[in-house]
Amino acid sequence: MADRLRPLISARRIKKRVAELAAQISADHTDAPLTLVIVLKGATVFAADLMRRIATPFVIDFVRASSYGQAARSSGQVIVEDEARLDIAGHRVILVEDIVDTGLTAGALITALRRFEPASLDVCALLHKHVAGAAPVDIRYKGFDIPDEFVVGYGMDYAERYRNLPGVYRLTVAG
Ligand code: IMP
Repeated sequence: MADRLRPLISARRIKKRVAELAAQISADHTDAPLTLVIVLKGATVFAADLMRRIATPFVIDFVRASSYGQAARSSGQVIVEDEARLDIAGHRVILVEDIVDTGLTAGALITALRRFEPASLDVCALLHKHVAGAAPVDIRYKGFDIPDEFVVGYGMDYAERYRNLPGVYRLTVAG
C-alpha cells in the first residue's frame, strides 16, 4: 500500500502567510543588525521564501538540531550542532523553524543561542503542532496552528521524502 497524503495547507495560503510574517518581521527590526538563524534541514524552504519578503537588512546563518530516536517523534534528547561559530552577540536574532512539535528542539536551540548574548531572540515557526504535554514555546512569528498529526511538504520530510511538495500534507505511512 502507498503512503497516504491529505492536503492540510495549500501553497497559496502559505505564500500569503509568509508575506504577512515577513512584513511583521520587517516592521519589528528597523534598528539593530538582524540575523536569521535557520534550522537545518526542514526550515530551508520556508526560510528561502521568508527572506525574499523581508525588507530590512539581515544576515543568515544555519544550525542543525537532531534528536535521537525514530523519525516521527522527538525522543527527548536534542543535539545542537554548528552553533559554536555563530556571530550573534548583540544582534537581534530570529530562530527560523519549520515546525514546533514537542517544543524540545526549539527549547534546546534557544538555550544554546542565549549563551552568545544576542540583543533579542525570537522564534519564527511556520507551524505549531498542538501536542498534549508539550514544552511551552513562545513563538513570536507563527504561520499556522495545526493538529497533532505528522505532516510533510514545503521542506518537511518523512525519511528525507516529500520535501519538494509545494503545500503541507498530512501523512499516513503505509504499513
Ligand atoms: P520538537 O522538538 O518535537 O518540537 O520537533 C521539532 C522538529 O521535529 C522539527 O523541527 C521537525 O524537524 C521535526 N518534526 C516534528 N514534527 C514533524 C512533522 O509532523 N513532520 C516533519 N517533521 C516534524
